[in-house]
Parts: sequence; structure tokens; C-alpha cells
Amino acid sequence: MFASSTSPSTALVSAYCLTFAFLSSLLLTPTNAATEDEWRSRSIYQIITDRFARPDNSTSYACNVTAELYCGGTFGGIMNQLDYIQGMGFTAIWISPVVQNINQTTAYGQGYHGFWTQDITKINEHFGGADELKALSTELHRRDMYLMIDVVVNDMAYAGKGADTDYSTLVPFNKEEYFHPFCLITNYGNQTDAQDCWLGDDTVALPDLKTELPFVQDTWNTWITEMVANYSLDGLRIDAAKHVDKPFWPGFQKAAGVFTLGEVFDADATSACSWAVNALNSVLNYPNWYYIVSILGNSSNAMGGLEYEFGIVAQDCYDSTLLGTFSENHDVARFASVSDDLSRQKNALAFNFMSDGIPTVYYGAEQRFNGGNDPNNREALWLNAKGYDTTSPLYLEVKALNAARSAVGNYMKTTNYSGWSPYWAYKAQSIYVTDDVVVFRKGYVNSIVTALTNVGVGAANVGPYNVSDTNFSEGIEIIEVLNCTKQTAGYGGSFNITLINGEPQVWIPGALLVNTTDICTDLVKKVTDRIGNSGSVTSSSTPRPSLHLASLLLSVIMCTTIALISS
Ligand SMILES: *[C@@H]1O[C@H](CO)[C@@H](O)[C@H](O)[C@H]1NC(C)=O
Ligand SMILES: *[C@@H]1O[C@H](CO)[C@@H](O)[C@H](O)[C@H]1NC(C)=O
Ligand SMILES: *[C@@H]1O[C@H](CO)[C@@H](O)[C@H](O)[C@H]1NC(C)=O
Ligand SMILES: *[C@@H]1O[C@H](CO)[C@@H](O)[C@H](O)[C@H]1NC(C)=O
Ligand SMILES: *[C@@H]1O[C@H](CO)[C@@H](O)[C@H](O)[C@H]1NC(C)=O
Ligand SMILES: *[C@@H]1O[C@H](CO)[C@@H](O)[C@H](O)[C@H]1NC(C)=O
Ligand SMILES: *[C@@H]1O[C@H](CO)[C@@H](O)[C@H](O)[C@H]1NC(C)=O
Ligand SMILES: *[C@@H]1O[C@H](CO)[C@@H](O)[C@H](O)[C@H]1NC(C)=O
Ligand SMILES: *[C@@H]1O[C@H](CO)[C@@H](O)[C@H](O)[C@H]1NC(C)=O
Ligand SMILES: *[C@@H]1O[C@H](CO)[C@@H](O)[C@H](O)[C@H]1NC(C)=O
Ligand SMILES: *[C@@H]1O[C@H](CO)[C@@H](O)[C@H](O)[C@H]1NC(C)=O
Ligand SMILES: *[C@@H]1O[C@H](CO)[C@@H](O)[C@H](O)[C@H]1NC(C)=O
Repeated sequence: MFASSTSPSTALVSAYCLTFAFLSSLLLTPTNAATEDEWRSRSIYQIITDRFARPDNSTSYACNVTAELYCGGTFGGIMNQLDYIQGMGFTAIWISPVVQNINQTTAYGQGYHGFWTQDITKINEHFGGADELKALSTELHRRDMYLMIDVVVNDMAYAGKGADTDYSTLVPFNKEEYFHPFCLITNYGNQTDAQDCWLGDDTVALPDLKTELPFVQDTWNTWITEMVANYSLDGLRIDAAKHVDKPFWPGFQKAAGVFTLGEVFDADATSACSWAVNALNSVLNYPNWYYIVSILGNSSNAMGGLEYEFGIVAQDCYDSTLLGTFSENHDVARFASVSDDLSRQKNALAFNFMSDGIPTVYYGAEQRFNGGNDPNNREALWLNAKGYDTTSPLYLEVKALNAARSAVGNYMKTTNYSGWSPYWAYKAQSIYVTDDVVVFRKGYVNSIVTALTNVGVGAANVGPYNVSDTNFSEGIEIIEVLNCTKQTAGYGGSFNITLINGEPQVWIPGALLVNTTDICTDLVKKVTDRIGNSGSVTSSSTPRPSLHLASLLLSVIMCTTIALISS
């Protein structure tokens, strides 16, 4: 406390102390674990709980995807396999909806996917129930990983014709008045039709909630506040976001208080991303997905198209670095069913991680699962020929991609007083384009340069192309993390790229990898032996956080001393 009769100089120092304490608190206040900025740096592994891991750790229990029945995966099963997920470098998981579903076996099977809500107040017992979900959340947080759950707000489910819906079975929306009158959507391009009529059909009806009603809004808002608190959720994936009226979302978003990622199945960047303005925090990157499939999946199409679309998304979306970028998910055919060429899939994954957005990988992609459209794309991971294989080519690729992205992002974080890494928010720039290659750079001062092609396995070499505008400093050693080769950046940071056998390349200053332990270890060790782990890759004299902390400590000691003296 400060005494009332202080000398002018003490008052001055006191004022300094207060101001400093205030500024420091602004700078050092830990951010909510689930803010947009925290999510931007994460990478997400998407799971259908029923199909990822059984609690008995079985690698043989039969699961017939076309039968569409529960196969026995649980929250506890996921918990047992977190080493497998974290071993690839993922820092978050997104799991399928957790609430109780209709319990009938319909002509479309059972609610194993979780999207057929019957009672939002209960957790689906097939997946292990509420306590097991809490345990999964606790274990994820112990590993510094985030939990995102899928949430269906648009509709409930009824096993039968829409016109015959027995509303009393729907909890807590148990009256007809809480729903739009029954009509099936006939024109998805008509927003009124898409929002007021029903998804589903006469085999499984999806009664469409009247989200304009205060009762429906209040019920959802209270529910999501409780769900986030009860299960310590860090984020939400929002199913069918564009089928709910837009004014519903800000209230829900506020009640949730965590990051939301909406599903807006739309190829057009402007309309998809409009749901990330005055509605949800962000949306899945469907616009880019269409191009990943058509260009990286098909060598007849020139790579320039990918660059074009990539630019459109960066320009038309309010923040392309916050989109959930993916090459497959549970609603679309897996990439390996579009193209069975391993190198093309490697390019698609490299694009996911090194372009803008939060990389989102659907379970099984790392084992090259090749199921087509729903339900074939919902294979049991435990039936993979080598089980939870941590040595498959794509598992290793994802691991290297996560490691490289984190190395740059986290290093840049330490160069900034506020703990903010400009890498995450930097919009990638295309720096070289021909029909068979797109090269882009992401990052400020310390960047990653990624080269992609769609020519496929066995094709002639692509290049050499002299790539400049890399933002690498002349003379530094750069490492290609997917095949562990190195070269020295030439004049103006330029270097030559030659893609072999259709594979992508990801180049990063070797000095940024000194704290990584499991990618290109021999090359990285040589860098460390030479320069230590300082990570200095440019001559930039950015102040280091250690200085900041030291000066903070000094100020605290000084202020405390003055406070004691003057009291
Ligand atoms: C399954 O694996 C986990 C983690 O490896 C282990 O703790 C657990 O005991 C196993 N459960 C069974 C039923 O084998
Ligand atoms: C899988 O389920 C489908 C649909 O119920 C059925 O036709 C098929 O015979 C089943 N396959 C196996 C191997 O049991
Ligand atoms: C399904 O749920 C209803 C209502 O909770 C219950 O009466 C019925 O026994 C359940 N059926 C099955 C097969 O579990
Ligand atoms: C859009 O759908 C609504 C509800 O189904 C319908 O009343 C309206 O006529 C449609 N508008 C157009 C332009 O088709
Ligand atoms: C959250 O937990 C409280 C206290 O156990 C409980 O009353 C409430 O129903 C729960 N809400 C949800 C949505 O799980
Ligand atoms: C590949 O692209 C070409 C040219 O656009 C198109 O004609 C062809 O149908 C595509 N192939 C597949 C399998 O989609
Ligand atoms: C820290 O990041 C902020 C936000 O991007 C930026 O404005 C500022 O210049 C950065 N400071 C340093 C020292 O890099
Ligand atoms: C780099 O590639 C260019 C072609 O773009 C070629 O002319 C040049 O010789 C290459 N340089 C080296 C060092 O390989
Ligand atoms: C990298 O880009 C930044 C921002 O344009 C610039 O200040 C810096 O000098 C560049 N560094 C190199 C090595 O080109
Ligand atoms: C790339 O081209 C520039 C400009 O022509 C040249 O100065 C540089 O040495 C070239 N780099 C390589 C690696 O060939
Ligand atoms: C990987 O590097 C080796 C040399 O270390 C080279 O022989 C091979 O062609 C490279 N493969 C690819 C796909 O670049
Ligand atoms: C590696 O870790 C050390 C010690 O924490 C840190 O000072 C250094 O900046 C890190 N280097 C990089 C490139 O991340």
C-alpha cells in the first residue's frame, strides 16, 4: 500500500509502478484457452467416436460400414489412443456429436455417427456416458490438447415420416410448436427453404427447430453454457450452420464462450465465409476443399487453379487463417478414393497444413483409408491392416508437417512481447506458379516455403525452378522436412526446387528446427552442433522475452521496495 504523505519523486515512481503493473497485466494476462488466436495455432484430428477405438483395444472386431450399426468405439477408446494422435503432432481433437440419439435401427442403420439427436440432456451411453467424456477431456488437457465436440442445433431426429413425428419423444423440445411445419427442403439455393424446411427424409425425419423462438434460443444457450462448463470444452464444430437463421448465432456464440467452427457446405467463398461474420467465429474451408479435390486430385487440371482459389479465399473471407482447412471428412468421399496416387495425397495434406487455416485431418487419412461417400468413409480405424500404425508414410508426413508448422509458429511467438506469433495470422503468398507447380511462402521474417504438384507418382521431375521471394536470408541452411534434404539459400534467399516422383516439398530454415526431436534428426543435429539452439536465422535484433521478463522482475523488486519504504 502507498502512504498518503509521499515525496514527489516517490509519487512519480508510484505512478510509474501502477502504470507498469497495468500495462504488464494487459500484456501478460493469460488468454482464454479457447480463443480464436489460441485455435489458430492448433491442428485438429477429426474423429467419429464409434469408429476410432474400442475400449478393449481390439484390432479385429468386425465393423461393416454399409450396415451402418454401432461398432463399439468409445470416449475411453479414444483416451487409450491419444499417444497415437499426439504422436502425429495434433494439439486438438474434434469428436462426433455426444448426445443421446434415437435408438431405433432404421433403414439407414443406427445413430452411431451421433447426428440423430433425441435427448440433448443425456450423453450417448454407447460412447461411454458423461463420466467417460469428462475423463477424456481431463486427459486431453493434461496433454495440453483441446477438445472440440460436434453440435447439432438445427434439428432433432425421428425414426419415421416427418408428417408422423411424435414430438413427445424429443427432449426437451417436446412440442410441435418448437418446430417449423413439416416440409422437406427442395431448393438448397433458397435460404428460406433451406432454413425453414427439413433436412432428412421420410425414413429418418429431422424435425427442424424454430430457432427464431425465444424458448428455443434460451434452451440452446443455457444448454451450451452448461456443456462447455461440465465437460471443459474448448471448441465446437457446428453442424448445418447455414440451415439455422443467422440471427440465432451471436447469442449462442456468446453463451458458448469458446471457439466455433461452422459447417457451411458451399463452394463459394463469399457466401461460405459470410457465416463467420456476425454469426460464428469461423467456418470449415469448403471453398478450398473443392479445389483440393479437382486440382490436386487430377493432373489434367493446371496448378494455377489452386493458386487462384487460394487467393479468392484469402480475399473474400474475413480471416482465411482461422478457417478449418481439410482434404476429406465424414460427409465427403475420402481423398484416396478420388485419387489413389500416394504422392497426390501427400500434396493435399501438405496444402492443408502449410496454406492458411487450422489444419483439420479426418481420422484414417493417415492410413490412406479410401472409402467413398457416406457411409463408406466411416471405416473402423482398428481394422487398418497394421492397426494403429505409427510408421505409415502419411502418418510420418503429418508428423513432419505438424512439427514444421509448430517450430516456426512457436519460435515466432518467443520473438514477440505479447506471446503472439505473427506466423499464424500471416496469409500465405504464392511465389511461383506453372501448370505443374505452385510454390507459396507463409510467414513473416521466418517463413516456410511449400512446393506442390499434381503430376503423380512416376511422373518426370518438376523443375528445377529458381524460386526467389522466399524471405530466407542469403547463406542460411534450409531443410526440406518431408525427405530430409538440405541446401543453402542463395542470392536474395533464392534457391532451386526440383520435385521428384510427384512429391511435395516443405522448406524451413534449419535453425528453426533445433528444438524438434523427431524430424530429420541427423540434419537437425548438424545444425545444432554448429549454432546451438538459439534459433537465430536472421540478423534481426528483435528483443527477446528473457529481457522482458528480467526487466519485469526488476520493476517488481523496485516497486515493492518503494512501496515498503514509503509505507
Ligand atoms: C488398452 O490400452 C490401454 C492403453 O494402452 C491400456 O491402459 C488398457 O489396459 C488396455 N485395455 C485392455 C482391455 O486391454
Ligand atoms: C454388410 O452389411 C450389408 C448391409 O446390411 C450387407 O448387405 C452385407 O452383406 C454385409 N457384409 C458383411 C461382410 O457382412
Ligand atoms: C428406445 O427408447 C425408448 C424411449 O426412451 C424406450 O422406451 C425403448 O425401450 C428404447 N428401445 C430400445 C431398443 O432400446
Ligand atoms: C423460397 O422458399 C420459400 C419456402 O419454401 C418459398 O415460400 C418461396 O417462394 C421460395 N422463394 C423462391 C424465390 O423460390
Ligand atoms: C451440467 O452439470 C450440472 C451439474 O451436475 C447439471 O445439473 C446439468 O444438467 C448439466 N448440464 C448439461 C447440459 O450437461
Ligand atoms: C479431370 O479433369 C479433366 C479436365 O478438367 C476432366 O475432363 C476429367 O473428367 C477429370 N477427371 C476426373 C476423374 O474427375
Ligand atoms: C508482435 O505482434 C504484433 C501483432 O502482430 C505486432 O504488431 C508487433 O509488431 C510484434 N512485435 C514484435 C516485437 O515483433
Ligand atoms: C536453378 O534453376 C535454373 C532454372 O530455373 C537453372 O538455370 C540453374 O542452373 C539452376 N541453378 C542451380 C544452382 O542448380
Ligand atoms: C522478410 O520480410 C520482411 C517483411 O517484408 C522484411 O522486413 C525482411 O527484410 C525480409 N527478410 C528477408 C531476409 O528477405
Ligand atoms: C536465381 O535467380 C537469381 C536472379 O536471376 C540469381 O541471382 C540466383 O543466383 C538464382 N539462384 C539459384 C539458386 O540459381
Ligand atoms: C529423397 O532424397 C534422396 C536423396 O537423399 C533422393 O535420392 C530421392 O530422390 C528423394 N526423393 C524425393 C521424393 O524427393
Ligand atoms: C529452443 O529452445 C530454447 C530454450 O527454450 C529457446 O531459447 C530457443 O529460442 C528455442 N529455439 C527455437 C528455434 O525455437
